[in-house]
Amino acid sequence: MADTDDIRETKNYFPGIPARHEGFYLKGSHQLDWGMRNRLARIFRPVSARTVMLAIDHGYFLGPTTGLERVDITILPLLPYADALMCTRGILRSTIPASFGNGVVMRSSGGASTLKEMSNEHIAVDIEDAVRMNVSAMAVQVFIGGKFETQTVNNMTRLVDMGLRHGIPTMGVTAVGKNLARDARYLGLASRICAELGAQIVKTYYCEEGFETVTAACPVPIVMAGGKKLPELEALTMAYNAVSQGASGVDMGRNIFQAEAPAAMIQAVGKVVHELMKPKQAYEFYLTLKNEQAKERK
Ligand code: R5P
Repeated sequence: MADTDDIRETKNYFPGIPARHEGFYLKGSHQLDWGMRNRLARIFRPVSARTVMLAIDHGYFLGPTTGLERVDITILPLLPYADALMCTRGILRSTIPASFGNGVVMRSSGGASTLKEMSNEHIAVDIEDAVRMNVSAMAVQVFIGGKFETQTVNNMTRLVDMGLRHGIPTMGVTAVGKNLARDARYLGLASRICAELGAQIVKTYYCEEGFETVTAACPVPIVMAGGKKLPELEALTMAYNAVSQGASGVDMGRNIFQAEAPAAMIQAVGKVVHELMKPKQAYEFYLTLKNEQAKERK
């Protein structure tokens, strides 16, 4: 029983001060439940409202991708610089230490490899496992215009429903097929469909023309997909342009882990995303870190 000996008079009711009700710093998220907002706050830094998400889920359709052959050796050293990690449950359970305290965005669709029709995906996890793994969000590929478009949209809406029951956000990942244009019209269409059908986060590609219309017309945060490996300055420029034009951060894989100095690159991307550091300055920062790391290795 609680000690009741010295119970004092209560008086700090501040009747003249209305109760505080804070909004939420992320676009379109202010009416979500507490648990879901708490999970989003593990992905998007409250100070900048943006994220550096490190994508390492490629193995689910590509097998051992360059730079991901040994996740334990190449990726674990990058984790301190990632606001969130996007990976499969297989890698999460086998290789990522449970002490990792930042966001985990778990790849939750799959079933097709590069050898077959890529859009033929299904939901690849039970919601119970997402809960068990304490993930911050589930990621699902949506192939708008693809052969299995409806099936993949259905995968997303089912995950959204299950996620809402458990307070876990869903990230709709707009896939681009070989025959689909990566222009603002297509990316805007795909992103808006994901948001309209309930995704709390959308991942989509950057496009040179009209990207600001894609972010403006999407009522939830957009994170920019990285795509194929570019020279480091170009990748930093793309990230800078995306966040300057309304993206709430990046979800980059190959442009980080295939960089010459991945730890330096992810830190440079962080400068761009959170501090809006200009690309040339961020590139200088990258080179400085890269040289320091090279000296340390000698
Ligand atoms: C996108 O389709 C998948 O999520 C990829 O496995 C991954 O996120 C791609 O990352 P990046 O294109 O930046 O290497």
